[in-house]
Formats: sequence, C-alpha cells, structure tokens
Amino acid sequence: MSFLKKVCTLTAAVSAAAMLTTGAVSAKNFKIAVGDGAGSSQEGTGKFFIEALEKKSGGEHTGTMFLNGQLGSEQDTVNEAAIGTLDMSLLAINNVTPFSPTVGVFTLPYVILSLEDAEKLTQGPIGQELTENTIRDAGVRILAWTYTGFRRLTNSQKPVTTVADLQGLVIRVPKNEIMIETYKSWGINPTPMAWSETFTGLQTQVVDGQDNPYTTINAMKFYEVQKYVTNLRYIFSIEPLIVSEAVFQDLSEEDQQILIEAGKEATVKSAQYLRDIEAEIKESLLAKGMQIDDPANDEAEFIKLATEAVWPQFYDSIGGVDKLNTVLTTIGRDPVQ
Ligand code: MLT
Repeated sequence: MSFLKKVCTLTAAVSAAAMLTTGAVSAKNFKIAVGDGAGSSQEGTGKFFIEALEKKSGGEHTGTMFLNGQLGSEQDTVNEAAIGTLDMSLLAINNVTPFSPTVGVFTLPYVILSLEDAEKLTQGPIGQELTENTIRDAGVRILAWTYTGFRRLTNSQKPVTTVADLQGLVIRVPKNEIMIETYKSWGINPTPMAWSETFTGLQTQVVDGQDNPYTTINAMKFYEVQKYVTNLRYIFSIEPLIVSEAVFQDLSEEDQQILIEAGKEATVKSAQYLRDIEAEIKESLLAKGMQIDDPANDEAEFIKLATEAVWPQFYDSIGGVDKLNTVLTTIGRDPVQ
C-alpha cells in the first residue's frame, strides 16, 4: 500500500471512529436551487436561512445558492429534491402544487388578501398541515416561507385595466391548473411555460405577458422586455424553501432542529424584507420606464369572474370546501356556502 493510501485509510478510520463515539455528522454545504435572480425575495430568504444555519450550527453547516434556475426549472427541482439528488430549492408555491395539490389553497385567486393573511396562514396550523402534506405527497419538507407579494400582470402591448383589455393577449402562466383556469375565467387561454423559459418567451414575443410580484419583475429584469403593469392582486405569491425529505432524514435530530429553527428565522425576516423594499422596488420600476395601472372598479370584475368560476373547480383537490373555509375563517373572512 502506498504512503498516501495508508494515510487516507487511517484518516477515514479515525473519522469513522470519532463519528461513532460522538454521533457527529460531517459539515454540510447544502446545495440550494433558486428559481429567481439576484435581488429577489427568494434570494433574500436564502441568505437569511444560510446566515441562521451557520450561526445555529456554530459554523459547521452552510448553504450555496444557485440562482436563476441554473439547476433546472422550479418544477424539476421538486423532483430532484424528492429523489435526494438536490438538497434544497426556493421556488413559488404554484410550482409545488402539481406535486402536492392541497397547497393549491394558497394559489386560489383572491383568497389571500394581504401579507398579514399570508403570515397567519403559513406560520399557523394550516402551514404545518401543508408542510406535512408535501412530505407525504412530494417527498419534500417546507422549511421556510418567502413572502414575495401580489402577482402583478405585465405585458409588452398595451395598458390593461379591464377584462376586455386582456382579450387577444398571449399570457404565460406556470404549469398550474388553478392559474390556467383563472385566466380562462377572464376569457383567455393562457400559455403554460416553465419559469426558466419565461424571460426568453417574453423577449422573443412568443408570449406578450406574464404575472409575478414587483420584486420578481425587478430581479428578473422584466422591465427590459415588458412595458405595462396591471396591479392585479389575484394571488399573493408565497415561495417556500423546501428540503429533500431523504436528505433531512439523514441528518441527526440536532441538525434537523437547526434546519427547522433557521427556516423559522428566515420566514420572519422575509416578511420584514418585503415590508422594507416593496414600495421602493415599485418606484424603481416606474423609473425604469414601466407604466403601472390599477384595474378598474377595484378589480371587482376580475374578482367576481375568478372566484365564481375557479374556487368550486378545485374544492376536491385542495381537500374539500371545508379546507377553504378553514383558511377563510383563519384570516377573518366569511366561509363559502
Ligand atoms: C412562476 O411564475 O413560475 C413563479 O412565480 C416564478 C418564481 O418563482 O418567481
């Protein structure tokens, strides 16, 4: 046996013995896929999480983010995490729904009406139940919640303030049935497209528009290829940090707890981040030449069409109308039926 081989064998034996006596797991650098770019709310949550993780583990564990969908489309990263080939992913909840339909309750149009609603739902028993559902259905565990804000419609063609204005526009949506049906309720057939292909789709005018929150529009530089913004508030975008359940279960109980606590800290900081920056981001989009319009009549036409047509279609997939009613009453709204 060569000297180098002998040293390696001895080192491996010594670390194995140390692990047996102390139960210690070697330092881990979690690989974190991020759908959005630098400056996004997702990146903010990633940074808060990594900071907390490093602090709580005494510097033993850290994470590395791969921004802008470098590790694949958001929906692909759920599959990767499920089989344990990816540690973590930060992505929009609408891209988790196809794998765990009950989380769709957060994507139903006009259910969540404020950041405070989003905080109450995600950080309470409903958030806990949905976390357990994603473990069961999709093999991923939600560690933290990013609050990114209301999804605003953008397009390159014309100002949109009414449902009539929308007609004729080709709008990209995520591959999410609830969002597809919402646009159908407004009279158009949207184009489902992966998030990682959306900028190019807008740039080449394969699609005229899309919807996402201000911070995402800004981080993804959509102002370079989109002119008009409509302040639709049909979905409040919630964007979880998920960890592969297989990876999570390989950790010691102590490390699992560190991840959970770091996720809670990142969640609280994400809400503050949105409160601090959203108004500023809106101003910077205006300064970059975007035109921002409010929908006519406080959005009443959009709200009526979407809630009447879309909610009943998804009662079964979200776990029954009672589930929606629990969500509505949790945020102080009247139940349906
Ligand atoms: C989407 O539109 O697919 C997502 O909202 C993108 C994102 O994660 O920001």
